[in-house]
Amino acid sequence: MDMDQLKRQAAARALEEVRDGMQLGLGTGSTAKHFVELLGERVRAGLKVIGVPTSEATRADAERCGVPLTTLDDVDHLDLTVDGADEIDPAFNLIKGGGGALLREKIVAAASDRMIVIADDSKWVATLGRFPLPVEVIPFGFGATRRAIEKAFADCGVSGQMAVRKAKDGHVFVTDGGHWIVDAHLGRIEDPPRLAKALSRIPGVVEHGLFIGLAGTVVLAGGGGIRVIERR
Ligand code: A5P
Repeated sequence: MDMDQLKRQAAARALEEVRDGMQLGLGTGSTAKHFVELLGERVRAGLKVIGVPTSEATRADAERCGVPLTTLDDVDHLDLTVDGADEIDPAFNLIKGGGGALLREKIVAAASDRMIVIADDSKWVATLGRFPLPVEVIPFGFGATRRAIEKAFADCGVSGQMAVRKAKDGHVFVTDGGHWIVDAHLGRIEDPPRLAKALSRIPGVVEHGLFIGLAGTVVLAGGGGIRVIERR
């Protein structure tokens, strides 16, 4: 089975958790896109839900699929967010932001009663860090922010190359919020919660891709079938 089929299977399993009347956070990325498409099929068959998209790309997908949308200004909470991830460790710490939507993804996940992560099982890792950690920064004062990030890395015992993310056209990638992303190639992150706190303290850092304590359920699709793992 190819990777895309595995992603769709994970999305289909998460859809089983959706109930009529739910207010949903809609993730970003190729796996979350499957969820939005499958949700759209259910909506067209009569399911009543409303969603908050985590990116302009997901907004477009949801509109195309007929999923009604709202904003966090118009609803006071979300029942469930379903989103992908770039890496998941056994403590349910995540790296997200490979698609550049980490800021809205984290706002939406934090506003949700529950977050289900859907992924193919290659995303499940013993230690985070092989996937470059995205750090979203304000362009103003970038040199100072970059030095502060390097210091935070050193304080937390990690190091590695940092690169400002480029778009396909070669220009600097700009997020939906108008910020830049630095991808940090750290290799291993031994203490994700500590690094998350250190990065959050830097004024020019808008958000980072370490999602700590947000995911409650992980749905992993692999050659051997679907595994649903609950955080203890
Ligand atoms: C988007 O910014 C990311 O956080 C995605 O959720 C993550 O990159 C997973 O994407 P895929 O489902 O495409 O692997």
